[in-house]
Amino acid sequence: MAKASRARKTASATHPRLFRTQNDLPATTRVEVCDLLNQRLADCIDLQTQCKQAHWNVKGPGFIGLHKLFDEINEAVEGYVDLIAERVVQLGGTALGTARVAAGRSVLSEYPLGAVTGADHVAGLAGALSEFGRVIRMAIEETDALGDKDAADLCTDVSRDIDKWLWFVEAHRQGEIASVQDD
Ligand SMILES: [Fe+2]
Repeated sequence: MAKASRARKTASATHPRLFRTQNDLPATTRVEVCDLLNQRLADCIDLQTQCKQAHWNVKGPGFIGLHKLFDEINEAVEGYVDLIAERVVQLGGTALGTARVAAGRSVLSEYPLGAVTGADHVAGLAGALSEFGRVIRMAIEETDALGDKDAADLCTDVSRDIDKWLWFVEAHRQGEIASVQDD
């Protein structure tokens, strides 16, 4: 399945249950936002595990800086996981955030498990941040269109941070003159 269509796929087939709440957003909005956010939750959990994979396995001259950076990103991403999951619950939904659910639903590419050097892990994590950045940016518009401006605001916060982390990671290879983009 193409990534774009997978990114749009929601989990409406599972857990349609909605708990009673005095939250004034219409139930139809809350169901759809919960489905959408549960998909992004799976992606975000996948991203977090990829940060740890990089943190543990990076080797080479730039080890300590990258080791610490990757863990800093991991801790931040753990916060986004919590924000997304708790928005689902605030709306009366059920956060679906086990490792098995995340593995089954994530639209992110598999992390390069053979990565060794700093360059390998910079490339791997930059890719994961870029992919998650794309779908969480899409979620800003999608949640806004569904009528949940608070979820859109949450996704905007996460998106802005992901762009920052992508910069922090990508800067390690942007010093190469060959990587300057002319267009
Ligand atoms: Fe550690």
